Amino acid sequence: MANVKLAIIYYSSTGTNYQLAQWAEEGAKQVGAEVKIVKVPELAPMAAIEGNPAWKAHYEATQDVPEATLGDLEWADAILFSIPTRFGNLPSQMKQFIDTAGGLWAQGKLANKAVSAMVSAGNANGGQEQTVLSLYTTMYHWGAIVVAPGYTDDSAYKGGGNPYGTSVTVDSEGNIVEDAKDAVIHQAKRTVTVAGWIKQGLQE
Ligand SMILES: Cc1cc2nc3c(=O)[nH]c(=O)nc-3n(C[C@H](O)[C@H](O)[C@H](O)COP(=O)(O)O)c2cc1C
Repeated sequence: MANVKLAIIYYSSTGTNYQLAQWAEEGAKQVGAEVKIVKVPELAPMAAIEGNPAWKAHYEATQDVPEATLGDLEWADAILFSIPTRFGNLPSQMKQFIDTAGGLWAQGKLANKAVSAMVSAGNANGGQEQTVLSLYTTMYHWGAIVVAPGYTDDSAYKGGGNPYGTSVTVDSEGNIVEDAKDAVIHQAKRTVTVAGWIKQGLQE
């Protein structure tokens, strides 16, 4: 593998997407990637966070996770996003971060990166696919290379079978319903592998 640098960029209120990010890190390291996990800045008022014990607990537990910067986007050969759905769309926190990337886009610095996305929702059909595809719309504007998992590994089937990006459902206790860890690991490995092909091709 051509020394691939992977940025795992996530937003999570109650920990699900942080868990997905950590599984992805495990997978990416198995294929030799240099990995950074970074969270996008929280935008919600403290009153909202403090009004939800699970949100407050996760917010406090992840204070040491570095915040994503434009430098991370520039640094990365590959980017794996992880987000909870918000009414079938991206959380505003992730959208706000992405919307600061216009300068990099204008300089062509977001083109040719291998990108992929994971998602969570509270319901089995709560907008998982639509949320991933909304994010991918922006990736096409970047000229990024979208690396969907498809059904390239059997782990997709036990992980819920979303070919656009691994998606999970969260139950009322905050637990992930699907057996999705292997699907996340495969998606991370595949994203890194394709990024390696792209990087090597660009160097020739
Ligand atoms: C404002 C808001 C909108 C949401 N919209 C949906 C939705 O449309 N469908 C759904 O299944 N879950 C929805 N959810 C549930 C979240 O997607 C769920 O809590 C999240 O995936 C958990 O991920 P996290 O633990 O990383 O925060 C919504 C949650 C919030 C706070």
